[in-house]
Amino acid sequence: MKHHFGALAAGIIAATSLTGFVVTAQAQDPTAVIDARKAELKKAGGGMKAIGAFLKEGTGTVADVQAAAATINATAKAFPDWWPAGTAIGVAKSDAKPEIWTNMADFKAKTAAFQTEAAALVSVAAGGDKAAIGAQLGKVGATCKACHDAYKS
Ligand code: HEC
Repeated sequence: MKHHFGALAAGIIAATSLTGFVVTAQAQDPTAVIDARKAELKKAGGGMKAIGAFLKEGTGTVADVQAAAATINATAKAFPDWWPAGTAIGVAKSDAKPEIWTNMADFKAKTAAFQTEAAALVSVAAGGDKAAIGAQLGKVGATCKACHDAYKS
């Protein structure tokens, strides 16, 4: 788990300040959809980093961890709406492999796993126990990595 998270964290770009950016895949042009989902995913990445820093370096508070968990969970909930056809690699700056749309059942299963573990992270963060948060962060990170390995270039 630690290994998974470490590998993921290494690839995560610092969170942007695009708080409040709402993604609506429907009725938008592909570039807007891609830019918006990337911005949202960066926020989830920032949340993962913040929790990792709390655990490893003691940065921030339990309240910060809870806020980060909520951000990750919000990303997980909204995630299914971000993948209209026509937004694969080759369009704008998309890194989304075309296999997403040929293996949609698997992509949805990986999304569901992400949602389950992100929701559990919110519950565990509410408890405030560092070891439990670390274990659950690893589980969330594993769902990020499983999908990226398959569907992100
Ligand atoms: C079910 C699949 C899936 C899951 C789960 C998933 N991602 Fe991703 N992620 C993708 C895909 C596909 C892309 C490429 C999107 C694009 O380029 O349009 C991506 C892109 C990203 C990016 C790059 C954004 C950019 O600006 O280039 C970050 C950061 C990211 N994800 C973080 C995460 C984190 C953190 C998690 C877990 C907490 C996660 N993702 C879970 C599929 C997933």
